[in-house]
Amino acid sequence: MPHTLATAPILVLNGPNLNLLGKRQPEIYGRDTLADVEALCVKAAAGHGATVDFRQSNHEGELVDWIHEARENHVGIVINPAAYSHTSVAILDALNTCDGLPVVEVHISNIHQREEFRHHSYMSLRADGVIAGCGVQGYAFGVERVASLAAPGTAAA
Ligand code: DQA
Repeated sequence: MPHTLATAPILVLNGPNLNLLGKRQPEIYGRDTLADVEALCVKAAAGHGATVDFRQSNHEGELVDWIHEARENHVGIVINPAAYSHTSVAILDALNTCDGLPVVEVHISNIHQREEFRHHSYMSLRADGVIAGCGVQGYAFGVERVASLAAPGTAAA
């Protein structure tokens, strides 16, 4: 039986260097910390009767393992793969094992306005939606979209 918002959390995954959010290039990523982002996601989820399981790793394989967990234990995925967006076929393949799970990709910065190598994301081949350049508010949008997609009949096309 697939999970519902009442039976499983939304998995919010953060890739490398996002543990330093708030200190790292604040002119690009802002001054909010990852703890602030978690609080934002919790609030956005609560508005939909949902909860979040919020995680960060600097290691590709750990992110792959956590995506595998989502196959059984989560109702959808919001992912900011950070630099792995632009390099990781392994994370794309992991997301492609999650049949039917809503996936939204989030980037704090507008990757299309930055260096050429950031313009392409492997994750976008699987993501149901992509949010970039909305600052950390993009996470709240991502959580809301996954919640809508996970509750049949509530997602506007
Ligand atoms: C990022 C954009 C990536 O290009 C970069 O490597 C990051 C963060 C963003 O949130 O804007 O680490 O995903």
